[in-house]
Amino acid sequence: MKAREEGKSSLEIDSDLKNKLDQVLLMYSGGLDTSVMLTWIQDQYGAQVSTFTVDVGQREAHLDKVKKKALELGAENAFVVDAKDKFADEYIKTSIKANGLYQDSYPLSTAIARPLMSEIAVDYANSEGIPAIAHGSTGKGNDQVRFEASIKALDDSMRVLAPIRKWDMSREKELAYAEENEIPIPVDSGSPYSIDENLWGRSVECGILEDPSEEPPEDVHELVNPVEETPEEPEYIELEFEEGVPIKLNGEEIGLVDLIKELTQVAGKHGIGLIDMVEDRIVGLKSREIYETPAALVLLKAHKELEKYCSTRHENSFKPLVDQKWAEMVYQGLAFDPLVQDLEAYIEKVNEKIHGKVRLKLFKGKATVVGRSSENGLYSHSLATYDEESTFDQSSSEGFIDIWSLPTKVGFNREK
Ligand code: ARG
Repeated sequence: MKAREEGKSSLEIDSDLKNKLDQVLLMYSGGLDTSVMLTWIQDQYGAQVSTFTVDVGQREAHLDKVKKKALELGAENAFVVDAKDKFADEYIKTSIKANGLYQDSYPLSTAIARPLMSEIAVDYANSEGIPAIAHGSTGKGNDQVRFEASIKALDDSMRVLAPIRKWDMSREKELAYAEENEIPIPVDSGSPYSIDENLWGRSVECGILEDPSEEPPEDVHELVNPVEETPEEPEYIELEFEEGVPIKLNGEEIGLVDLIKELTQVAGKHGIGLIDMVEDRIVGLKSREIYETPAALVLLKAHKELEKYCSTRHENSFKPLVDQKWAEMVYQGLAFDPLVQDLEAYIEKVNEKIHGKVRLKLFKGKATVVGRSSENGLYSHSLATYDEESTFDQSSSEGFIDIWSLPTKVGFNREK
């Protein structure tokens, strides 16, 4: 608590804090970077380090091993938190209701986990009396912005350390440092890719992917089957939504965490959920990322279809503007900005009436909506039908068209 009580600005970071921090909470994945960091912080800052690892649904997290490794590397405490339900309830649900896609493509899987992790880290740091949080993000990426903007909003007295921005270590130097300090080098540290994974999706960058003209090699994919290997028969699924949240799969009630796991498997098997994207990062550069998000793509598609079915034409033209702004703010690390809460108030309001069922056909890399039904749907068969029983009075259209087209007619003929 020492440094915080002195009331210094959180902008005064890193080298200024040498020997001034008694403790640091490190967001720890168990990988090479954060393991090197665990030792490096003890070394450089003379601080005790506790680690903090969040289970956000990454497969094979081996969190007990991560904890053991942290303690072996000298961590004072190694906290492990299962945040899968919180992630689903507080972040993924909103993202579904917001049809959350950045630049119309990326379901924000990495992006929405960062404010969640920051929130839990700040709580732990405060309850343990730890004055600083360290993260393993680079100085070029989005995640540094998301972590630090979130932490500052939640507790401006919290110090933030970003060792990768400071330590100026190449890959080789890092490996040498690990060897010198007897830090075990993870088996996957030879992989050319940088991977981030959680329940909502998997992000892969680096290696050959840094050439945007190259097709991603097969070894990039783990969740999505190559279309060449998908089943020859389509599979139909039915999703039921209540207030914009999926609650049933094929007629059976299911919690969101389990639903996402199930859809990841089923849609992935049919080759659905692969995104190859060049995106605009917060820091201004473009980067190429491969995403595997089978469950997100199916759920977002089904939700959007039902939302359009239950909303008026005017709502349908306005909501995408709100959704797009929401996705941009969240991508850009500003999840705790009041604007996001304002947008969410609107998003929640629209979703109050989004109940119903959506049927999808999963086949050869595509999820296609093939049916929808809802007690709140605005589709009226008697208005739409061309059969005898139609209640739509076609003779009214004549006068309607005269008035509807009036400004266009006048404008077009203004200066003939
Ligand atoms: N570009 C994505 C985002 O900013 C993912 C970032 C992490 N990607 C990774 N492969 N480590 O949300």
